[in-house]
Amino acid sequence: MRIIVEKDYKELSKKAANILASQIILKPDSVLGLATGSTPIGTYEELVGIYKKGNINFSEVVTFNLDEYYGLDSSNQQSYYYFMNKYLFRHINIKTENIHIPNGRTKDVDLECRDYEERIKAAGGIDIQLLGIGRNGHIGFNEPDVKFEALTHLVTLDEDTIKANSRFFPSIEDVPKQAISMGIKTIMRSKKILLLASGRQKSQTIYEMIKGKITPKLPASVLQLHPDVTVIIDEEAAILL
Ligand code: GLP
Repeated sequence: MRIIVEKDYKELSKKAANILASQIILKPDSVLGLATGSTPIGTYEELVGIYKKGNINFSEVVTFNLDEYYGLDSSNQQSYYYFMNKYLFRHINIKTENIHIPNGRTKDVDLECRDYEERIKAAGGIDIQLLGIGRNGHIGFNEPDVKFEALTHLVTLDEDTIKANSRFFPSIEDVPKQAISMGIKTIMRSKKILLLASGRQKSQTIYEMIKGKITPKLPASVLQLHPDVTVIIDEEAAILL
């Protein structure tokens, strides 16, 4: 694991955006794995800035998002589809048909999950996967005790996650209890991984992810086994290292 400590959230976001931009410059038809949550917002803003300066082109880029709430329509303001559109897709020249996000309103979850995996494979696999991290160590929506062998599947969210994500919903009752998420195996198949964390409230999780045991109890610890992981954190998230 390569650990990069930046001064603050702004610097972390710039660094992550630069890494993604150079990926696109080197391989214009890159397959990007994208993440939601508050942490990557700054990265998307920086990336849009780089695009607006004319330095990168998304016309051949393909994206796969990690996850989507189960039961939410793409037009729902809390859906990850809506989030991605708001912070990234509507600002850049990506082709709609190159954007992939699990369909949270599917009638056949198993088929949707299998199809998602097939689409990733058909695109040639993910070149670089962007990740945030939950306070309980989840990546995507792979909650503690997930099976490391899991591919894209329907997950039940932890109480902790529901509480943490309720800040984006009118009330905690409105937070979906399930989501469709890439599995750990899907994430581990990515050629490169870029994990971001900011703030003191993530410092213990980051410490355990990097220095702790590899265990499904902290799903992100599996990344110790991946050959090409870059962790970008700010000084506050790095305080226990
Ligand atoms: C959600 C997402 C994760 C994300 C996590 C952390 O649960 N499914 O992909 O990493 O939130 O979010 P934040 O960056 O807001 O702390």
